Amino acid sequence: MSDRPRLLVTRRLPAAVEAYIQDHFDARLSPDDVPLDRAALGAALRTYDAICPTITDKFDADLLSAPATQVRIIANFGAGVDHIDLVAAKAAGVVVTNTPDALTDATADIAMLLILMTARRAGEGERELRAGRWTSWRPTHMLGQSVTGRTLGLVGFGRIAQAVAVRARACGMRIAYHSRRAAPDDVEKALAATRAASLDDLAERSDVLSLHVPGGVETRHMIDGPLLDRMKPTAILVNTARGSVVDETALADALRAGKIAAAGLDVYEREPVVEPGLLELENVVLLPHLGSATVETRTAMGLQAAANLDAFFAGLEPPNRVA
Ligand code: 8YV
Repeated sequence: MSDRPRLLVTRRLPAAVEAYIQDHFDARLSPDDVPLDRAALGAALRTYDAICPTITDKFDADLLSAPATQVRIIANFGAGVDHIDLVAAKAAGVVVTNTPDALTDATADIAMLLILMTARRAGEGERELRAGRWTSWRPTHMLGQSVTGRTLGLVGFGRIAQAVAVRARACGMRIAYHSRRAAPDDVEKALAATRAASLDDLAERSDVLSLHVPGGVETRHMIDGPLLDRMKPTAILVNTARGSVVDETALADALRAGKIAAAGLDVYEREPVVEPGLLELENVVLLPHLGSATVETRTAMGLQAAANLDAFFAGLEPPNRVA
């Protein structure tokens, strides 16, 4: 029997990460890449020393507080940890870590992509062309909105939001944000960002509202019908954070009624299920949770998760501990 920590990796990871993990741990990888069900996660908690899960693995309080838990650390592959009950993990003595830095730029790129795709109607245009419905160039064909000079409202102002601000400024956008705490003066100054007094205020003055808050009970349906009512009829909503932040039914209603102009979404309330009302609309760009999906980023995320495991099993404080 190996004296290396027994580690379960729940999904396929980039080859370089799997090779590293196999070198350093007594690892069970995911040969078929199928999400584990609740019973399998429960059994894993009783069997391994460590688990490296992803967003598709839900660790609720009941699972984490079950007797005979053997796992000492859950090294999440990803920044968001709303699929893990951190309070229950702490109570059960299970350390939880995440991978916060690795995916900042890739996720900010996807937010900017969605801003531009929605403003310039890229999804609609591509669908028209592929369907053979493009008749000819004409001055009034599929006119979108310029982003230059428009206000980008960032809900939350952490690493990813600030990286989106950098990109948006390069496109000539003005930056406003709302977060519980004001950002340091030098950060506001560097991005020429102004803090809105409230989320309502930010929603009212933004041309694009982009979400960058964590998921979980505190932010659930932060973007609901009344909030959408406050937005400009020309405004665009972009979500690369967590689906739970938006009431998807209210969003589909607002888009259908022309209360806002468009939405660009990378995340959903019940992934991989998408609210049917959204699928029917032309003015919505829908991506399958691609925020961090580059080879470089997913490799860096895996190596960051592995670094947390290495530190933990060396008796050190893991660098990205969240519980
Ligand atoms: C990850 C994400 O791919 O890290 C996050 O929070 O949303 C994604 O980019 C996913 O969570 C992996 O578990």
